[in-house]
Amino acid sequence: MSSNITIAISKGRIFKDALPLLAALDIYPVEAPETTRKLILETNRPDVKIIIVRTTDVPTYVEYGAADIGIAGKDVLLEYSVNASGGNGLGGYGLYEPLDLKIAQCKMVVAEPEKVEPGETGNREHGGRKRVATKYVNIARNYFASQGKQVEIIKLYGSMELAPVLGLADQIVDLVDTGNTLKANGLVVVETITDISSRLIVNKAAMKMKNNLIKPMIEKLTELVEEK
Ligand code: ATP
Ligand code: PRP
Repeated sequence: MSSNITIAISKGRIFKDALPLLAALDIYPVEAPETTRKLILETNRPDVKIIIVRTTDVPTYVEYGAADIGIAGKDVLLEYSVNASGGNGLGGYGLYEPLDLKIAQCKMVVAEPEKVEPGETGNREHGGRKRVATKYVNIARNYFASQGKQVEIIKLYGSMELAPVLGLADQIVDLVDTGNTLKANGLVVVETITDISSRLIVNKAAMKMKNNLIKPMIEKLTELVEEK
């Protein structure tokens, strides 16, 4: 049985929301990602380290065993599962996802300008197919296919809300929480694709080899989440 654990987390929203969960596991990082350039954070527990990676890289570190466990948004996991090694695009991929931590909760939606002027979207200019801008290309492609809709997907890396405003796209697929960002840019939700929250993910080999450490963590977190 192994005696140390590496946890992959992204800085920002997920790190902040994960702190109370880590505290319940008696894990306290000795530094915060906002105040250090270090990417490996020591904790009060000599057997636990936290690595700080980009949100979209968390499943990669965990699947390949560079981290034993991680916390990632369902949006990131859905997008990742299509391309992951061993992934079949249907959610079967090389890591376990044992628990919905119910943090960083939001929705994945399709949104478009509140007032679409006739002819303004330029649909006819691209063969009658709507243009959809998103960083969630796989999720969007699967969603529109499931609806029997043919769309042209444009990959962006952020600030999706700008795309319909400037005529780059007719619609976007993005995350919404308060709705403030959509509202501020004159957009409205037209379809909800799915609810999103962050999940605990576990490397498959670590689940076996480090079960003595990981199982009690999952049990404690399950209790906590159920109390919420
Ligand atoms: P990066 O800044 O590295 O490009 P990011 O912008 O996706 O990544 P965050 O904004 O911290 O990183 O979001 C992390 C996760 O939090 C997302 O993957 C999603 O699951 C969730 N999330 C994103 N936006 C919101 C929101 N407005 N409200 C609640 N949860 C959100
Ligand atoms: C996310 C998302 C939306 C916004 C929605 O962006 O991409 O733009 O939150 O939240 P709201 O409905 O509460 O306004 P984020 O704040 O993470 O910014 P980023 O994508 O630039 O990191």
